Amino acid sequence: MTVLYTPNVALLPGYVDALKRGWSPDNLRPAVAAEQLQAIEHDADAFLKRQTDLAGDGPPVTLPDGSQVSRLPSFRRWIVKDGFAGTIGLRWQPGTEDLPPTCLGHVGYAVVPWRRREGLATAALKELLPDARALGLGHLDVTAACDNQPSQRVIENAGGRFIEDFEAVAQLGGGLHKLYRIPL
Ligand SMILES: CC(C)(COP(=O)(O)OP(=O)(O)OC[C@H]1O[C@@H](n2cnc3c(N)ncnc32)[C@H](O)[C@@H]1OP(=O)(O)O)[C@@H](O)C(=O)NCCC(=O)NCCS
Repeated sequence: MTVLYTPNVALLPGYVDALKRGWSPDNLRPAVAAEQLQAIEHDADAFLKRQTDLAGDGPPVTLPDGSQVSRLPSFRRWIVKDGFAGTIGLRWQPGTEDLPPTCLGHVGYAVVPWRRREGLATAALKELLPDARALGLGHLDVTAACDNQPSQRVIENAGGRFIEDFEAVAQLGGGLHKLYRIPL
């Protein structure tokens, strides 16, 4: 079952509809929904192109405390099955599996509230793994907040092995998280 698609014009209305319903693809920063609606209205093609940034030369990333860090190479895919259902993104540093402390893992994902518990996040993370392997990464570090059991199950379902609990940096709002590693 294929659920991942490169963001494109044909799928854009479903994405816009989800944003208008108040869903944010960024779990830590709900304001992203309004920012993206504005960007799409301004220049939809440029917005779609920015969803793939293999060189990491896009604009800086704004963190939950308002500070900014430079963007890592990344790409996003849309999770689609009988309509738009969510997003998953991969970010990495070339030549290493290490990540800066302001980046909570290689992967971020979010499923719209009205499509949860259909196995879509699990299918999306599994489908992303060959792409990560093709980049030369030996493993993925994936994190979930300690109180986010659904996300922890998603990672475990995709082969994640628990490594340790850690405290996120203050710029991300802190909080206890679980670090998992998925061998590729
Ligand atoms: C976490 C999230 C992506 C899961 O998406 P999903 O498509 O519903 O996940 P799946 O259907 O693949 O379910 C994965 C597992 O979580 C369980 N699960 C999902 N929602 C659950 C809930 N509300 N309560 C308890 N378990 C839940 C499922 O039963 C499944 O477990 P199983 O394999 O033991 O049956 C989704 O809840 C979400 O978008 N949450 C907000 C954003 C977020 O937290 N992103 C992750 C940041 S690390």
